[in-house]
Amino acid sequence: MRGKLWVLGLFLLLLAACRGGVGEIHPPALDTGTAFDMSGAPTPGPGTIRGVVVDEEGPVRDAVVRVKTTENKTLTNSAGEFILTGLPLQEPVTVTAWAEGYFVGWVDDPLSEDGPVTISLRPYYTYDNHEYDWFSAEGEDGSLSCSHCMPCYEEWIQDAHSRSAVNERFLSMYNGTDLEGNQSPLTRYTSASDYSTLPLPPNPDEPYYGPGYKLDFPESAGNCATCHVPAQAAHPGQEYQADPNQARGIEKEGVFCEFCHKIGDVTLDPETQLPYPNMPGVLSLQLHRPKGEDQIFFGNFDDVTRRVSKLPLESESAFCAACHYGVFWDVVIYNSYGEWLESPYSDPDTGQTCQECHMPPVDYDYFVYPEKGGEIRDREKIRSHYMPGAADEAFLQDAVDLKVDGVREGDQIRVEVVIINDNTGHKVPTDNPLRNMLLLVEVVGDNGESWPLVKGPRIPDWGGEGGTVEEGYYAGLPGKGFALILKELWTNVSPTGAYWNPVEVVEDTRLDPYETDRSRYVFQVQGEGAARVRVRLLFRRAFKELMDQKGWTDPDILMGEVVLDIP
Ligand code: HEC
Ligand code: HEC
Ligand code: HEC
Ligand code: HEC
Repeated sequence: MRGKLWVLGLFLLLLAACRGGVGEIHPPALDTGTAFDMSGAPTPGPGTIRGVVVDEEGPVRDAVVRVKTTENKTLTNSAGEFILTGLPLQEPVTVTAWAEGYFVGWVDDPLSEDGPVTISLRPYYTYDNHEYDWFSAEGEDGSLSCSHCMPCYEEWIQDAHSRSAVNERFLSMYNGTDLEGNQSPLTRYTSASDYSTLPLPPNPDEPYYGPGYKLDFPESAGNCATCHVPAQAAHPGQEYQADPNQARGIEKEGVFCEFCHKIGDVTLDPETQLPYPNMPGVLSLQLHRPKGEDQIFFGNFDDVTRRVSKLPLESESAFCAACHYGVFWDVVIYNSYGEWLESPYSDPDTGQTCQECHMPPVDYDYFVYPEKGGEIRDREKIRSHYMPGAADEAFLQDAVDLKVDGVREGDQIRVEVVIINDNTGHKVPTDNPLRNMLLLVEVVGDNGESWPLVKGPRIPDWGGEGGTVEEGYYAGLPGKGFALILKELWTNVSPTGAYWNPVEVVEDTRLDPYETDRSRYVFQVQGEGAARVRVRLLFRRAFKELMDQKGWTDPDILMGEVVLDIP
């Protein structure tokens, strides 16, 4: 037995030696479960420190010990001990230590100390204080108070999260108004044979400004705030009573700096890895709002030395899950997180997280301005807080690949269009079911005239009826539509954006990750001369009819275009 242990020990020693070196994690000694005797160890060379990481109860194992802002780091052994080499001799440095559940601890200029150094770690608090006044709300500055030190404020302020509580499109759907404030009539009901009441579709004789949660449920507030105005819904008892119209102060900043950076954990169903359907948004988030002298901000660095702890979750997709998965009446409505989870993108080795795509590295190398004491860091680790989505042209143009083939065969032009969702970690489009994507395929002759489609798909009615092509009413034109089509169960309105009512899924033609969509079209040649095939893929923020009702004017975004000349 002893002999075997010895061989194992030698093996581990070799392994440790091989893996050693600056910039790698190397256990300082054999992990025999007992402390190694420091007095017997060789005297450290220049630039080398030994030490121990402890908390109130004793040694902390697997703590990351690091020369601050560098990749020079090591892990503590089971006795909390570490050896860190390669410290610069010219200038004093700070060495930090962190383990999950603790604030970052540190020691300044450890080379100036004679013996081994001790770094003490303090566990962070895990309670949530509902009475807490958001730090950033002091002086009513809100998140602006972060802008004095942090460049990412400029990114966030342009990002949809900063406007989620006051976004006029959101409020117009919540209140059943258009952007000018005209409100549709309240929903009327009829009695069913079993004495229950059923909603009626809108009366065509009355002005209508589109659906609204408040038209169907004037007496209640709904769950919209749990994701859109999370600080408002985070007051005890307000979970389902927070009315976004009543948001005050910092609540109006929607998903703001301090809110995200006080998220300490997310509740997921261990079986599905998804949030529980009845716990949208803040209901699945464990905030860490402090009391008294306590304070914490979670982040993605393990070497930031003031009131900060690294939270591994913050770099994982699960961090985004609570608000990017939403179930209404048993129908999954928002699901970018679930789609990602089911896709190859969730593979920990070969996949990509939400943050990797939506928070790309920035082009500066500090997260606090250097003149405010910010340190220079590896910019690959500093991530943008402008999280591009439905409004970002460049991002949408990267989302899918569009390929077109066209040939003349006798008096026909045959066109094949291939769309591959090769670059999006979930369906395209995703989340809010108002989003849709339209493929327009046309063949025009020399004189600019469109040639008729003989065979092939056409854009569905929801592509826009009752107006001109120039104005974006595309229904019936050669092409396709991609969307999640819902139908309201009682009124039969479809597609509907009123998913707060019971709905059923009529069809889901959105593109899964890595899915290929192939469509074929045959056009009739008109007259002599060359033909030009023009294929466009458009992203539309909401179904045309709804946009008209609400007065939303967001232009379609061109996701891809191919033009082919056929002699
Ligand atoms: C507290 C809830 C919450 C959390 C946590 C959250 N989001 Fe969001 N997110 C929202 C809401 C609400 C919107 C919609 C805002 C709007 O359009 O008014 C949104 C919008 C977005 C958009 C669309 C942006 C656009 O321009 O249309 C993207 C992309 C996004 N979130 C990504 C993420 C990622 C990635 C994470 C995790 C790092 C995350 N979100 C975490 C609530 C959240
Ligand atoms: C589970 C979290 C969640 C809940 C609950 C939720 N939303 Fe959202 N909502 C989001 C996210 C995330 C987005 C952004 C995703 C996207 O852009 O597709 C969004 C986007 C929207 C948009 C599109 C805004 C725009 O600018 O185009 C509207 C409108 C909207 N939500 C209305 C509502 C209403 C009304 C309710 C309540 C009945 C509600 N949402 C409940 C998470 C939620
Ligand atoms: C939707 C949630 C969300 C909001 C809102 C948010 N952050 Fe972050 N923040 C993150 C995530 C996630 C990371 C970690 C990214 C990673 O793992 O690389 C992060 C990282 C950081 C970092 C570390 C360095 C860096 O830039 O990556 C700082 C500092 C920071 N955020 C400050 C802020 C400030 C200031 C605001 C408001 C102006 C803000 N955050 C708003 C989610 C958010
Ligand atoms: C491989 C890159 C990639 C990954 C990973 C990824 N996304 Fe996206 N995301 C995109 C692209 C590209 C788009 C634009 C196309 C679209 O709207 O589907 C997008 C769009 C979005 C939108 C905007 C939808 C809208 O209509 O406004 C939201 C919200 C979103 N993603 C959330 C997430 C969340 C949450 C995760 C992680 C669970 C995630 N994404 C993972 C690339 C990615």
